[in-house]
Amino acid sequence: MAQHSTVEKELVTYEREMIFPISVRILHWLRALAIVALALTGAYIAWPMFERPDDTNTLVQGWVRYLHLLTGFVFIGVTLVRGYLFLFTKETRERASFRDVFSLKSWIIQIKSYFWRGHLDKAGIYGPLQLTVYFGITVLAILASISGLVLYAYVYHHGLGGALRPMADMVVHFMGGLARVRYWHHVFAWAFVIFIPIHIYMVVWTGIRFKHNSVEVIITGYDYHKQPVKKG
Ligand code: HEM
Repeated sequence: MAQHSTVEKELVTYEREMIFPISVRILHWLRALAIVALALTGAYIAWPMFERPDDTNTLVQGWVRYLHLLTGFVFIGVTLVRGYLFLFTKETRERASFRDVFSLKSWIIQIKSYFWRGHLDKAGIYGPLQLTVYFGITVLAILASISGLVLYAYVYHHGLGGALRPMADMVVHFMGGLARVRYWHHVFAWAFVIFIPIHIYMVVWTGIRFKHNSVEVIITGYDYHKQPVKKG
């Protein structure tokens, strides 16, 4: 005779939430591509390994430099638009993260959660350490852009280059020479190169540690939140 028993199933449901709209995702990937292209072309400008002194026709350095500038202007455009969206968009969740940056309690919660103690409870989208690092990266982007524009203005004397020259002269004077500006532009480039692997590591680690969509969210825009368990 067949035996009947009731099995209680636990139904785990997840709520889907749009975190990053399409504008933010496109800007993120444009900026990522621009940084990789700038780092590669910049490395070639610094160490022109394919240049042949006997060949003046190919001008690899000139083309690489041209690409660097083109990408540099895309990078500046993306930084400006992203900054505008962060500060002035109606959606307030990104800016809400400032509350955590100025709260000692939030810092303690974040640091403890990194040691597997408790869960990260955020007011906005980012944790306090994350927003502080992103702010630092924005300052870095501004410094790389200003030093890049100074180098540009000292090579292209007409049009935009000419218009930027008074600003470039001021920066060169302040920095103590054009060679110093070039040196610092190179240092800023290294800061980006160091940031990229740490950023990728932290995003993957956060996804594993807190069991949420931290990698996919910047592609699909959605994060998932576990809902209270229902018995079925
Ligand atoms: C993530 C951002 C950037 C990175 C990683 C980067 C990287 C570099 C590197 C490594 C160099 C070579 C420096 C050297 O000779 O030692 C360079 C040169 C240069 N960069 Fe950038 N750069 C960035 C942004 C920009 C921007 C926004 C502009 C301006 C539109 C720009 C314009 C220039 C110019 C004009 C040079 C000098 C070329 C020459 O010496 O003839 N860069 N960059």
